[in-house]
Amino acid sequence: MVSSALPYANGDIHMGHLVEYIQSDIWARFQKLRGHLCTYVCAADAHGTPIMIKARQEGITPEQLVTRAAKVQHADLQAFDVEFDNFHTTHSDENEQLVRRIFKALRDAGHIYTKTIEQAFDAQEQMFLPDRFVKGGCPRCKTTDQYGDACENCGATYTPNDLIEPVSILSDSTPIWKESEHYFFKLSAFEDQLRAWMKSANLHQHITSKLDEWFETGLRDWDISRDAPYFGFQIPGTTDKYFYVWLDAPVGYLASFLQYCNNHPELDFDEYWLPGHDTETYHFIGKDIVYFHTLFWPAVLDGSGFRTPNSVFAHGFLTVNGKKMSKSRGTFINARTFINNIDHNHLRYYYAAKLGPGMDDIDLNLDDFIARVNSDLVGKLVNIASRCAGFISKRFDGHLADKLDNPTEFQDFAAAAETIAEHYERREYSKAMRLVMTLADQANRYIEDKKPWVMVKQKEQADDVQLVCTQGLNLFRSLMIYLTPVVPQLADKARALFQEGDWRWDSAQQPLLSTTIKPFKALLTRVEPEQVNKMVEQSKASSASPAAEKTKDGSSEISIDDFMKVDLRVAKIEKAEPVEGADKLLRLTLNLGDSDRQVFAGIKSAYKPDELAGRLVVAVANLKPRKMRFGLSEGMVLAAGPGGEEIFLLSADSGATPGMRIK
Ligand code: MSP
Ligand code: ZN
Repeated sequence: MVSSALPYANGDIHMGHLVEYIQSDIWARFQKLRGHLCTYVCAADAHGTPIMIKARQEGITPEQLVTRAAKVQHADLQAFDVEFDNFHTTHSDENEQLVRRIFKALRDAGHIYTKTIEQAFDAQEQMFLPDRFVKGGCPRCKTTDQYGDACENCGATYTPNDLIEPVSILSDSTPIWKESEHYFFKLSAFEDQLRAWMKSANLHQHITSKLDEWFETGLRDWDISRDAPYFGFQIPGTTDKYFYVWLDAPVGYLASFLQYCNNHPELDFDEYWLPGHDTETYHFIGKDIVYFHTLFWPAVLDGSGFRTPNSVFAHGFLTVNGKKMSKSRGTFINARTFINNIDHNHLRYYYAAKLGPGMDDIDLNLDDFIARVNSDLVGKLVNIASRCAGFISKRFDGHLADKLDNPTEFQDFAAAAETIAEHYERREYSKAMRLVMTLADQANRYIEDKKPWVMVKQKEQADDVQLVCTQGLNLFRSLMIYLTPVVPQLADKARALFQEGDWRWDSAQQPLLSTTIKPFKALLTRVEPEQVNKMVEQSKASSASPAAEKTKDGSSEISIDDFMKVDLRVAKIEKAEPVEGADKLLRLTLNLGDSDRQVFAGIKSAYKPDELAGRLVVAVANLKPRKMRFGLSEGMVLAAGPGGEEIFLLSADSGATPGMRIK
């Protein structure tokens, strides 16, 4: 069983996430291609305060928010050929059952205790505040506007209690400190088990050195409960306590797998998650969540009688053009924006070419991306096929020869299979890609030496063209088999060219001879700089639009002061006329008491011009004038309704006079 970390169900998948989903998808596909039974699972991470707050702001239930986000996220990932066997949600029956089972087992075994703690509480909103919902000055370096858990300037870590002048980001009020009883998991009692697990799990040295640090500092017990209001699972036996999202999130791996097993009777959940079986389980995660996956998670599993994962693989963070992704630079790129402009095969290859087994950050340098994928995928790889397939189709009716021109060279390619496989297995994708491209160079050199385009012109050599092109196509085919986990869609197109059924890793051991190929169609196009520029511009634009303009707590709220800036006035419509060349617009002349204004309003579908003259309406008087194709629009009239014939102008009271301010 292979998993990717569960994306929080309150945002879009972006280029950073894709590092992980592509890395783990390649590994799962590789395992399957090798003939292993491999199940790749994921789910939406549904619970927690941020999701509850966001749903509240949007005026929907958290369930609605999560269902919508999970659907979009899953579709975005599928568009990059990330192919989960199962994508579930942590807000599910399977997960609640498993969480209860684990909690009960932990409690029965004495690993849970309760303790009263003091926490920041927003008296206005009547809720306890997570550390990140409190901001204030850093107690160490005094930088203002820092979160309650750590300082972005000096790196100090602390609790909200230590902040200078703390405020709640929900209400801007000063939090009070309030006591409440919490449930704790005795992580400190698991040091020996965790040290043993760390040895057996064959963790990358980047992880073990982190773990050594944490063991050195000493393991602290873990607060696994949160007070109502909270979006999560209620703790059995309480009315106002919930499991902290990070307790139920990793259980989501089991829940997703369990749902899959329930639909696939040939798989037995217990064989994977109860001790005494030789199945294997692996988690792919990012470097920011190593603590949760290498301390809390194995300890919780161990303490509740489940099996611990065979290993945990952590990758680094994505930078774009050497810097943290940035909305203003247009480098905070959503998966959707990418796919709308560029072929996803290119990204999968580029990430593979950059990924290693450790936690080093990886950089998406956009210029390098264009150069690299054009040179490797199009210039080297696909080029082999396009140089050979045409001759086979045109001169030999699509027939491959019955033998190779150079069997020894084919054997060299076949012999590389094991080394490449080892690289994949160890998540040394960059090494695997380098080796494949070295072989592609070799194949191109072979074709260059033989020059089939010259041979066809010389009568006595014309038949050898078939041998040479059969050789070239077979070398291409071997490389495509090796690249199947990375660029599955491209591999599918290549398989279609050869008219073959599914490939297995071993398919590269035998050449394809005496069969017919389909006429060659371009397999992949180059990435043009314009596509990348467009993507960056679109990423900038989407962050600059008012809807995306977020306040510091990530909401799109405006304050009452912002609202009070809107100067609403009673206006009398003196004249209303159609606008030539615009079927929705009316040109209104508004009397605002002291002045007349020209305003264009999109209300023609609901009103005839002559019904409007003399009506009192509500207008925004201080809207910045906007130049339109038909002239200057100097304000706005307010209306409500779904559109079409149903647009209802907000009317002012009959006692009102033009220019009167509306409060
Ligand atoms: N919901 C938690 C994971 C729970 S797993 C039981 C979470 N979600 S996340 O949406 O923030 O991130 C999902 C995965 O994407 C994490 O492994 C995270 O490390 C990874 N990445 C998120 N942003 C990333 C980059 N900018 N770069 C690389 N990986 C990134 O964490
Ligand atoms: Zn600081």
